[in-house]
Amino acid sequence: MRRPVSVAPPKGKLGVLTPGMGAVGTTFMAGVELVRRKESLPVGSLTQMGTIRLGKRTDNRVPKIKEFVPLAKLDDLVFGGWDVFPDDAYEAASKAGVLDAKDLAKAQKFLKNIKPMKAAFDQTYVKNLHGTNVKKGKTKFDLAEQLRQDIRDFKKKNKLDRLVMVWCASTEVFLKAEDVHKDLASFEKAMKANHPAIAPSMLYAYAAISEGVPFANGAPNLTVDIPALENYAKEKRVPIGGKDFKTGQTLMKTVLAPGFKARMLGLNGWFSTNILGNRDGEVLEDPGSFKTKEESKLGALEYILQPNLYPELYGKIHHKVRINYYPPRGDNKEGWDNIDIFGWLGYPMQIKVDFLCRDSILAAPIVLDLALFFDLAQRAGMRGIQEWLSFYFKSPMCAKELYPEHDLFIQLMKLKNTLRWMMGEELITHLGAEYYD
Ligand SMILES: NC(=O)c1ccc[n+]([C@@H]2O[C@H](COP(=O)([O-])OP(=O)(O)OC[C@H]3O[C@@H](n4cnc5c(N)ncnc54)[C@H](O)[C@@H]3O)[C@@H](O)[C@H]2O)c1
Repeated sequence: MRRPVSVAPPKGKLGVLTPGMGAVGTTFMAGVELVRRKESLPVGSLTQMGTIRLGKRTDNRVPKIKEFVPLAKLDDLVFGGWDVFPDDAYEAASKAGVLDAKDLAKAQKFLKNIKPMKAAFDQTYVKNLHGTNVKKGKTKFDLAEQLRQDIRDFKKKNKLDRLVMVWCASTEVFLKAEDVHKDLASFEKAMKANHPAIAPSMLYAYAAISEGVPFANGAPNLTVDIPALENYAKEKRVPIGGKDFKTGQTLMKTVLAPGFKARMLGLNGWFSTNILGNRDGEVLEDPGSFKTKEESKLGALEYILQPNLYPELYGKIHHKVRINYYPPRGDNKEGWDNIDIFGWLGYPMQIKVDFLCRDSILAAPIVLDLALFFDLAQRAGMRGIQEWLSFYFKSPMCAKELYPEHDLFIQLMKLKNTLRWMMGEELITHLGAEYYD
């Protein structure tokens, strides 16, 4: 990839479309509105609160990221979305029960105006959902055409300059890439033939790319992670990325595991279990959807610990992930980790992590950052997979010949160096030999 010659300024309004206006989607929308009104701080958002060091440590140049790269302003964001339930964003947020009534009341008028467009949905792919706000069409291709029309209408009606799409809808059943995903012609043929390997999320991704709209996948679904759509995105000069927002338990895993490896501490096992009671938890009760999530959650340790390089330390890890739907907890998940490590002479030790987290509170700032960075990437002329945004994903997409980078701190360094590279600043290697000449 060549360094961008210039980055187009973020003039005009940016539409942020979310397939899925559930807990995450509405917490994101409500939160941005409260931040815009100065009712709250954008805690958890790197684009809004993060800084970036430029030049030498002695230079004292540490601007905020949003002052260093030309990001869209929060005031210029316009929200829209699709859902299989007809509730407006206020009703959906009230039902999701993430934000308390006091906060929701402040954003009530604003949220009431965001009404979901009819979804491209098929219950075969999300067994535990029964919605009515659903498009009709003879073929999957027809549905994709309707989504494209929605995008165009939304852009025109709101007088938008640009759009981005962030998938905030439910986790679909586990699918593997197959022949119909190999190129665009096969993919379009399969859409027209209602082939079962074409999931609804793929229709949104196809529609977005066709309309020149960047697409980020917040769920672990296969979606845009197939050669047909990856090549299509390159051809249409559209940035894409995924998969699965890195929020609670996996965030902690990608913080702790690099620490064990850095100290050459061994690992015998990692048992992770969760209780959660939101709709996401209910959807994940279905073994098909759980399998998709499980694959996404299991990958991180394997890639971070590199058992092929360190067979004595990481060759025999028992890694288990469980998710239990437990309604009393709502969105306030509890994630337990029992970690069996070993040290000098093989002596065993244990670490217990009990993370009482709030899923959507952790996910909302990720949606914001992804929307802003994907828009930036497009204005910088970057296309296809945006591996530099792996920081935000549990199961990051990357070029075929690479393995994904999961270590949160390497991901952050890569993200910041990409911003420096984009803006023609020197990269930071942390060598620092020049300070000791
Ligand atoms: N909250 C987190 O920490 C977190 C982390 C990683 C990934 N995710 C993923 O983000 C997604 C959203 O999570 P959530 O907690 O908001 O779930 P949610 O169930 O509250 O919201 C998802 C919404 O998507 C809608 N939907 C399903 N299929 C659709 C389709 N084809 N088109 C349009 N709408 C559709 C559902 O009706 C629902 O309202 C899930 O896939 C979840 O696994 C969440």
